[in-house]
Amino acid sequence: MKTLVNGIHLHYVQAGNGVPLLLIHGYPLDHTLWQPQVDGLADAARVITPDLRGFGQSDAPEGVYTMETYADDLNALLDVLQVERAVVCGLSMGGYIALAFWRKYADRVRGLILVDTRAGADAPAARQARLDMVEQVKQHGSAPAADAMLPRLLAPSTYQSRPDLVESVHAVMLRQPPAGIIGAQLGMAERPNSTATLPTITVPTLVVFGAEDVITPAETEGHNLANEIPGAKLVIIPNAGHLSNWEQPELFNAAVREFLLARDV
Ligand code: MLT
Repeated sequence: MKTLVNGIHLHYVQAGNGVPLLLIHGYPLDHTLWQPQVDGLADAARVITPDLRGFGQSDAPEGVYTMETYADDLNALLDVLQVERAVVCGLSMGGYIALAFWRKYADRVRGLILVDTRAGADAPAARQARLDMVEQVKQHGSAPAADAMLPRLLAPSTYQSRPDLVESVHAVMLRQPPAGIIGAQLGMAERPNSTATLPTITVPTLVVFGAEDVITPAETEGHNLANEIPGAKLVIIPNAGHLSNWEQPELFNAAVREFLLARDV
């Protein structure tokens, strides 16, 4: 389905009934990375998987996509779907957006699920690397961004045993439009530090990390989120890297299902 929000057409897929569960994908990916959750959780929730602006089948306007802009898009999407309050789940960049969403629209959040993400802003070198990548994508298209991400996204065991997953995540990244990749990189480069937001979170929160995530390591970022958010629960998924929902869908879905049922969201 497609709907007009904030001046752009946003594409989304939804399935199931029950507690609305908004799943926000990471960079440079699209809603298809949540397919295992659409398949595995639609009996327990109303699963809503948008393509963020610039990705998948949504429009990709030129410009900087701040985390607040993405949050505004999703808030408008919930209006269209007549969802008053949702459990908001974001992976990596999706987690940055989920924290921005909490800051702007806390009264629409029933619970938070933060997956393979971090609260901090970019260090200067990381910010510069994003600006360098923007230049590369301007010159060569999406391939440099896809090729740079691919070797770091998954757990070593996934690269060895699941060549099908490696190939399909590469294909997903390659098909994202340059304007979307550029808009997201520029937006992430200027995102604020969300550390002070964490103690303000008053809804049930689940933190899920792949044990072998090298982009946002569980030992540092996962523990930091779980320690700073009051009452948060941390689940570390073995044999998974940065895309824990995709690499180990049964374990990931079991953690989310338990959270939805037990944490009163
Ligand atoms: C992601 O997976 O969304 C990215 O690794 C986020 C980032 O580049 O900081």
